[in-house]
Amino acid sequence: MVRMNGTTPLPRTIIGSGPAAREVSALCLGAMILGVTVDEPTSFAILDRFVAAGGTFIDTANNYAFWVDGGRGGESEALLGRWRAARGITDEVVIATKLGARPRTAGRGLEDAEGLSAAAVRAAAAESRARLGVDRLDLLYTHIEDRSVPLAETVDALDALAADGDAGLLGASNHAVWRVERARARSAAAGRPGYEVLQYRYSYLRPRADIALPESAHVHATAELLDYAREEDLTLVAYTPLLSGGYTRSDRPLSAPYDHPGTARRLAALDEVARATGATRNQVVLAWLMGHDPRVVPLVGVSSVAQLDEALDGARLELTADQRGVLDRAG
Ligand SMILES: NC(=O)c1ccc[n+]([C@@H]2O[C@H](COP(=O)([O-])OP(=O)(O)OC[C@H]3O[C@@H](n4cnc5c(N)ncnc54)[C@H](OP(=O)(O)O)[C@@H]3O)[C@@H](O)[C@H]2O)c1
Repeated sequence: MVRMNGTTPLPRTIIGSGPAAREVSALCLGAMILGVTVDEPTSFAILDRFVAAGGTFIDTANNYAFWVDGGRGGESEALLGRWRAARGITDEVVIATKLGARPRTAGRGLEDAEGLSAAAVRAAAAESRARLGVDRLDLLYTHIEDRSVPLAETVDALDALAADGDAGLLGASNHAVWRVERARARSAAAGRPGYEVLQYRYSYLRPRADIALPESAHVHATAELLDYAREEDLTLVAYTPLLSGGYTRSDRPLSAPYDHPGTARRLAALDEVARATGATRNQVVLAWLMGHDPRVVPLVGVSSVAQLDEALDGARLELTADQRGVLDRAG
C-alpha cells in the first residue's frame, strides 16, 4: 500500500461556476453509513481525520439510511449536524445533500419517495438545513427523478432555493442525460446556473449495460453522460468507486454485470500499475478517477479510519502518462 507523508495536501478542484463556485478537495467523503451502521465516535474520528488531511467535500442525503433497521432517513445528516456543531465547522467544509428519495412513511421504500414537486422540494430542503444546522445547503442534488411532476416545476423550485440563498450549488443524481439537459436549458433561459454537478455510479471496472445492477437504485454513468459532462464542463461525482470493497475483498464478490472478459483485462492492468507504484488496487482506481477527462471526483465510503487512510493516500497518488495508458488501453 502506498503510504504518503500525511502532510501532503489533498489535490483540490472547483465545482460549479460563477459566484457560487466552490473549491473542494478532489476526494469526496461519503457519509451514507456514518451515524447509521458506523457508531458516533468512529464517525467523528473519520470526519476529523478527513478534514485534518485537507478534505473539504462531504456527501450525504436526506434518506440515509431508511433501509437500515430502525432507520427513517436523515440519520446521516443529523450526525453531520452534531459533528459540525461539536467541531465549530462553518464554511470551510462543503456538505452536499440530496432530496427526493426519502420515503414519506416509515418502513416503506422508494415506491413511497417524497418526490420532486415544488412543495416536496421546499419541505425537504428546509428539513435538511435543520438537520445539518446550516442556513444554506452548500450543494443540493435531486437524488432520483420524479416523472410524475412536470420537470419545469422541479427546476423552478430548485432555482428559487438557490436564488433565495437556501441552496448554493445544484446537482442531479441518477437522472437520464436528456432530463439533465432539459432542466439546465430551462435554468439557463431564466438566467440561472441550474444543475452544475452530476452524481452517478462510476469506477474503473465497467459493468455490462444489459444486466441490471443488484443495487436497483444505482444509475451508472454512460458514455453519453461522460460526453455531456466534458462538453458542458461539469464535474462528475462518482459514487461506489471502490465497488463496495470488490476490488480487494473476497467477501465482496463482484456482481453479475461485472462478469465479462473486460473485467479480467482491467484487473490485470490494475495489478500491473499497482505493482509499479506500490499502491493497492483501490488506490490506483482512485488515482485513475482523479485524473479523468471529464473531471471526476471520487466519492468514497469508509467505515474506519484505516480505510479512509488508504483512500487519502490513493488520492495523493499521481499516475504517469504511461501508467494511465496501461489502464486506459486495457479494454
Ligand atoms: N447518489 C446515489 O444514488 C448514491 C448511491 C450510493 C452511494 N452514494 C454516495 O457514495 C458514497 C460511497 O458509496 P459506497 O459506500 O457505495 O462506495 P464505495 O466507496 O465503493 O464502498 C465503500 C465500502 O467499501 C469498503 N471499503 C472502503 N475502503 C476500503 C478499503 N480500503 N479496504 C477494504 N474495504 C474498503 C467498506 O465496506 P465496509 O464498511 O463493509 O467495510 C466501505 O463501507 C456513499 O457514502 C454515498 O454518500 C450515492
